Amino acid sequence: MDNFNDLENVKSYLLERLRGASSLDDISKIKIEFLGKKGFLGKLTSDIGKIPLEQRKNYGIRLNSLKEEIEAQIKVYEQNFKGDVDKSEYTDLYKSLPGRKPPVGHLNIITQAIEEIVEVFAPLGFNRVRYPEVDREYFVFDALNMPENHPARDEWETFFVDYPEDEKLGKLVITPHTSSGQVREMLKGNLPIRMLNISRCGRRQIDISHVPSFYQFEGLVVDENVSTANLIGVLDYFAKKFFGPDRKTRLRPYHFRFTEPSFEVDIDCGVCHGKGCKLCKEGWLELGGSGMVHPNVLRAGGIDPEKYTGFAFGWGVERAFMMKSGTKIDDIRYLFSNDLRFLEQF
Ligand code: FA5
Repeated sequence: MDNFNDLENVKSYLLERLRGASSLDDISKIKIEFLGKKGFLGKLTSDIGKIPLEQRKNYGIRLNSLKEEIEAQIKVYEQNFKGDVDKSEYTDLYKSLPGRKPPVGHLNIITQAIEEIVEVFAPLGFNRVRYPEVDREYFVFDALNMPENHPARDEWETFFVDYPEDEKLGKLVITPHTSSGQVREMLKGNLPIRMLNISRCGRRQIDISHVPSFYQFEGLVVDENVSTANLIGVLDYFAKKFFGPDRKTRLRPYHFRFTEPSFEVDIDCGVCHGKGCKLCKEGWLELGGSGMVHPNVLRAGGIDPEKYTGFAFGWGVERAFMMKSGTKIDDIRYLFSNDLRFLEQF
């Protein structure tokens, strides 16, 4: 008590004691210690006679406000402890046990794959674009050298949208491939072209390697003197950057109406490196189509095929991702199952 010649010291000592209290009992003891008849405040009040006359009034005012403050602080702590005691369901709470962290998700694996593909092509100057996912037959087929009634259209197993037909551009369809963006890009009139079109596609298909709704990424380059050697260079670059430095590609002759010559692109199997295994059978896995842009397609895009040439490729995002993950995914439908046990592996 002798230490409390200053009222401020009483206040800070009170707070220190309150913070150290661990029960309502402790608070009662502190209350008596400070506010009881023989407590600090009582002592300070009885000391008032020792204060010089001219300071006495001021001292009295400060003493009163200190009393109010002490009462208020003690009340707060009392209520806190009472609250805890009243909530009987919390009595078993182990206060030092850390709380449960809310689960934190991550980007869907297809979004991750798309971002990675964009990053791989960006240094080569490929510009990411998106075109309508529901488009007219003209851009999906006619402009790509597949005139009306051409049997090649059947290969795309297209969903037709129940919507009025346009006299010139035909029916509305869910785009079955990103190649529908080729002529739209050319019609922008900006040459040279280095386009990377990534978007959702739809086909009437479902089995272990096909789903009705999937993503494709499509590259298109149009410039003077573009050759098959450039196409092969870009394919190899992609394979090494995306799948790993020791991976190889090969081209197989194929037929698409919108490229001439056309190729299917294969990548050597990541498991057996071309020897042949359970996953790949013959050492190679098919990635998708490619080829040199057909002159009729350049014409449809308003580009002179005598002056400009180009190449294009179009592959499935899911297929590329599955091939990268090796044996982990043996059914494309897992990618769409929304099963956390599957998704959390990536
Ligand atoms: C095409 O769609 C051509 N437009 C590709 C192309 C572009 C060729 C430019 C030449 C120049 P294809 O039908 O083979 O080709 O499909 C390409 C890839 O899309 C397939 O290899 C596969 O990876 C993916 N794909 C196609 N259909 C499905 C489906 N139903 N589910 C999942 N992926 C699919």
